[in-house]
Amino acid sequence: MTGATPPALPLGLAGRTAFVAGGGSTGPGWSIGRAACVTYARQGASVCVADRDEASAAETVRLIEQEGGRAVALVGDAADAQDAERLFAEARAAFGPIDVLHYNVGIGKVGGAAATSAQDLARIHAVNVGGLLLATQAVLPDMLERRRGAIVAVSSIAAHRYLGYPHLAYGVTKAGVEQFIRLVALEHAASGIRANTVVPGLIDTPRIATTVAAQFDADDFEAARQARAKQVPNGRMGTAWDVAHACGFLVSDAAAYITGTTLMVDGGITGKYV
Ligand SMILES: NC(=O)c1ccc[n+]([C@@H]2O[C@H](COP(=O)([O-])OP(=O)(O)OC[C@H]3O[C@@H](n4cnc5c(N)ncnc54)[C@H](O)[C@@H]3O)[C@@H](O)[C@H]2O)c1
Repeated sequence: MTGATPPALPLGLAGRTAFVAGGGSTGPGWSIGRAACVTYARQGASVCVADRDEASAAETVRLIEQEGGRAVALVGDAADAQDAERLFAEARAAFGPIDVLHYNVGIGKVGGAAATSAQDLARIHAVNVGGLLLATQAVLPDMLERRRGAIVAVSSIAAHRYLGYPHLAYGVTKAGVEQFIRLVALEHAASGIRANTVVPGLIDTPRIATTVAAQFDADDFEAARQARAKQVPNGRMGTAWDVAHACGFLVSDAAAYITGTTLMVDGGITGKYV
């Protein structure tokens, strides 16, 4: 055998800049976006933590800096074209061209076709898919010029399965996220740019206190958490870290041959029959 072997799992992002749209958290604790920001910083990246909630973006930056990492908080609406342009200009001013884009922002409204107005669908689509378009447009020129870049977007198993309650606009727009990423990946596969989607299952983040608890027993959040965990074949909800580590792998050189894929991070629930 000849030639050098690659380093063991090349997960490092030293010298690279990561932009996380939705890097704060809707409540105290570890959201997927916050855990992803910290993960990228631990891999050596400089991290742009963008969120519409200034305080939660600042908290993510504080957590990174206390570990010795580099990060900046950027405040704006990911679905607003002017905000997006400004956010990416601020990001470049802070840490240079973007190497890693992580689109984490996702909203929904519980309800089926009868309970979902055209306005609801348009609003949710604008945030879940429209914001991803704006962010991708903002990073592509840098990535194409330097012939390198990694994009990861966060979908949901709701794009693949009925979850036991109607969540139509969320599921439809998350399915859109997956095909958006697949098409970007294929269009730019020969240009050194990779794009993939992670598909979280039932994850124990602060968000479920408001959005999911009501589906089980709104008065007893602990019972709601346990009911959610029981649905998963491996017996527990995922953590924000379970998802963040999958993202950290996908945007690293360890995943150099992976593009256009959807990586289920779901404890096996998608393969389950009942
Ligand atoms: N928690 C789960 O069980 C679960 C499961 C599957 C998929 N997901 C997806 O994972 C992602 C993160 O989920 P999470 O639980 O960490 O949620 P989260 O709501 O805590 O985090 C999302 C962040 O995005 C920010 N945000 C929302 N709209 C924004 C906008 N228009 N512009 C800028 N920032 C905005 C919020 O302020 C928040 O900080 C979402 O896309 C969600 O749909 C979550």
